[in-house]
Amino acid sequence: MKTFICEICGDAYIGHEKPADCPFCGAKGNFIKFGSEANPIANQENKISELSQKNLEETLQLEMRANAIYLCMAEKAESYEIKAMYKRLAKIEWEHANIACKLMKIKMPEIIPQFCDDNDIENFKTTIELEDHAVELYKKFTREATEKNIKIFFTALAQAEEGHSGLIKNYL
Ligand SMILES: [Fe+2]
Ligand SMILES: [Fe+2]
Repeated sequence: MKTFICEICGDAYIGHEKPADCPFCGAKGNFIKFGSEANPIANQENKISELSQKNLEETLQLEMRANAIYLCMAEKAESYEIKAMYKRLAKIEWEHANIACKLMKIKMPEIIPQFCDDNDIENFKTTIELEDHAVELYKKFTREATEKNIKIFFTALAQAEEGHSGLIKNYL
């Protein structure tokens, strides 16, 4: 077994092989390094511009809301698979919120519960809308970021959310 570290969320993955995607934050495998070679983005000291600060705050709000919506969808889902899938998505979005907090050096605010539909299909449609919106937003934030680690963060997030959208589209 080896220790791998995701440079996006900073979490360690212990296993035989590097995973294709980070199981904790969904970042693509190219952001996962051998433990001794990893330099997580939240550990890279730099001053954050006013615009990036604003974008990180918007990211935090969006991710906390997504976490709460997916927990609602998990609760309402009919099958074990969909419940488990939404619980995992909720954890990944919580992790995204957590990284935004680490980058801003603040504590995670309290997450407010959200409502969702009783019907899986309606919830899938809402999920795709949320994820596609996040992808566009994070691509814009990537272009706007002047700090290397913030640019990397939004690049990884845009890719992860794009993956989520693709996952749900397979259910429709
Ligand atoms: Fe990660
Ligand atoms: Fe996210």
